[in-house]
Amino acid sequence: MKTICLIPGDGIGQEVIPAAAEVLQALKLDLTFVEAQAGFACFEKHGSALPEDSLALARRSDAVLFGATSSPSTIVAGYRSPILALRREFDLYANLRPVFSLPGSFSRPDIDLLIVRENTEGLYSGREYRDGDAAVAERVISRQGSERIVRIACEQAMARSKAGGKSPRLTIVHKANVLKLTDGLFRECALKVAAEFPEIQVNESLVDAAAMKLVKAPESLDVLVTTNLFGDILSDEASALVGGLGVAPSANVGKGSPVFEPVHGSAPDIAGQGIANPVGALLSSVMMLETLGFTEAAGRLRQAVLDTLATGLCTVDLGGKASTRQFTNAVINRLN
Ligand code: NAI
Ligand code: MG
Repeated sequence: MKTICLIPGDGIGQEVIPAAAEVLQALKLDLTFVEAQAGFACFEKHGSALPEDSLALARRSDAVLFGATSSPSTIVAGYRSPILALRREFDLYANLRPVFSLPGSFSRPDIDLLIVRENTEGLYSGREYRDGDAAVAERVISRQGSERIVRIACEQAMARSKAGGKSPRLTIVHKANVLKLTDGLFRECALKVAAEFPEIQVNESLVDAAAMKLVKAPESLDVLVTTNLFGDILSDEASALVGGLGVAPSANVGKGSPVFEPVHGSAPDIAGQGIANPVGALLSSVMMLETLGFTEAAGRLRQAVLDTLATGLCTVDLGGKASTRQFTNAVINRLN
């Protein structure tokens, strides 16, 4: 028996996570669900965006399914983004963001890539300060942080190759031509670790060129590994190739309970309307089931989502008319 901690969060997190939970229940697995509060609404109500009891529930669970939370772009005293706190607290240093073609005219064909984003350092280290009329952010890159993220990227490349029969390829994405010390170290560590995997064909790309390549020739890419902010930006960009943020899943893995979350945010522009696309949350659930060892069920759920999309049913963001409810019901009907 495995315990899943659901953290819907804010905005459409409150719509897509309950939808995913219903679908997971329809799989009739040996799963128990607990729910924890987090996010901006939680902060306004309880004075903490990630209360101690939520953190404790997440820690005791085998996995966390996280929706999204709203983070203000200004400083709000006492507020700290719960997803950043969870990544830090559980040392979830790797963010795995697969991007693959989906059945529908909203998606380009022949894409099957994985962005491996470093999740704990870089420009997200929280080391920012004001110096009069200037402001400085410290971009921390460490040998340990770089080596472990590239190692997991190489392991992912090997596993994908084994599963899919294609030869493994790794693209190291950096900006070492300008950031000679920080990305210079990242690049040096990446090349060293990748050399331990002789089967993997390794190449490197400056981040700006990688952004172009993602649009121009995404079919040529397999696994990309990069630092925190570059990975954040490139993965949103890559999601647009196959339908956009509404379909993009992710896994945060490392030491503590793994956290699975759609890549999108709380989408305040559509929250409460019942039209949010649940596919990102459903495909994140697939990644969660795989990680928990429910391989057969993961395959069944993935196929049910793909088959539902293949009928032409989809939400507004993909050019369709289905509501969250209608799409979710269609997936559940396929599972039954
Ligand atoms: P967003 O991802 O919430 O929305 C961007 C655009 O994509 C919006 O037009 C939205 O309607 C659309 N969209 C996103 N997910 C969708 C879905 N499932 N179905 C249909 N349309 C969808 O990003 P935005 O607007 O930049 O940020 C909104 C809030 O979310 C901010 O407070 C931000 O801090 C937070 N955020 C939280 C994240 C997290 O909790 N991991 C990640 C990204 C943003
Ligand atoms: Mg993002």
